[in-house]
Amino acid sequence: MKVAVVGRGNVGGGLADLWERAGHEVTRVGREGADVADAEAVLVAVPGGAVAEALDNVQGIEQKTVIDATNLVGVDPPEGFSSNAEFVKARTNGPTAKSFNINFAALYDRIGEAGSTPSNLWCGDEEARGVVEQLNRDVGYEPVYAGPLENAAAQENFFKLVFGMVQGGMGAFFYRIAPPDQL
Ligand SMILES: NC(=O)c1ccc[n+]([C@@H]2O[C@H](COP(=O)([O-])OP(=O)(O)OC[C@H]3O[C@@H](n4cnc5c(N)ncnc54)[C@H](OP(=O)(O)O)[C@@H]3O)[C@@H](O)[C@H]2O)c1
Repeated sequence: MKVAVVGRGNVGGGLADLWERAGHEVTRVGREGADVADAEAVLVAVPGGAVAEALDNVQGIEQKTVIDATNLVGVDPPEGFSSNAEFVKARTNGPTAKSFNINFAALYDRIGEAGSTPSNLWCGDEEARGVVEQLNRDVGYEPVYAGPLENAAAQENFFKLVFGMVQGGMGAFFYRIAPPDQL
């Protein structure tokens, strides 16, 4: 599959590496933007407050299947939207999903070491299912459907619970799998 990743950091760069290893053709897009008209799927993996700016520099994204992996850290979704994913959908008008926002990028290289296949939540449009589930399975996750795109706000907020667990009682568990500065 031809995939474009917008944001070349831990998530965008990390998933790009894994997808390339799985045989996909990946284009990495940074702040300079690009035309992604060729892509069959687009991943958005920029800071949660930078989604509008990032999409401003991406041409050819209309009607594309887009996976939004962003989390809102100390910022709100764009005005008028309850989630970044719904904002993305309003900009692209194509099949849209929220996924890869709950799992830690620091653990991408260790997915295969897990005793059982790690799950990865996704919610979004039915038309995105084939692409999202394949791109999850191709990096070693078992995709778990979490409902329509209206649930994206809940999935974005779920991140706050995960972070609370890291800082709270589950800290020791997470520290065993990765040092806190890598999560
Ligand atoms: N790290 C995780 O474990 C994790 C897990 C799940 C979800 N997330 C979420 O996924 C997103 C990316 O996280 P990350 O850890 O990959 O962050 P990161 O390592 O800081 O990477 C963010 C990337 O976005 C780029 N960027 C910033 N503004 C941009 C713009 N306007 N246009 C295009 N690219 C832009 C940055 O470019 P520069 O290098 O030029 O600044 C950088 O390459 C965030 O929303 C984060 O909350 C992170």
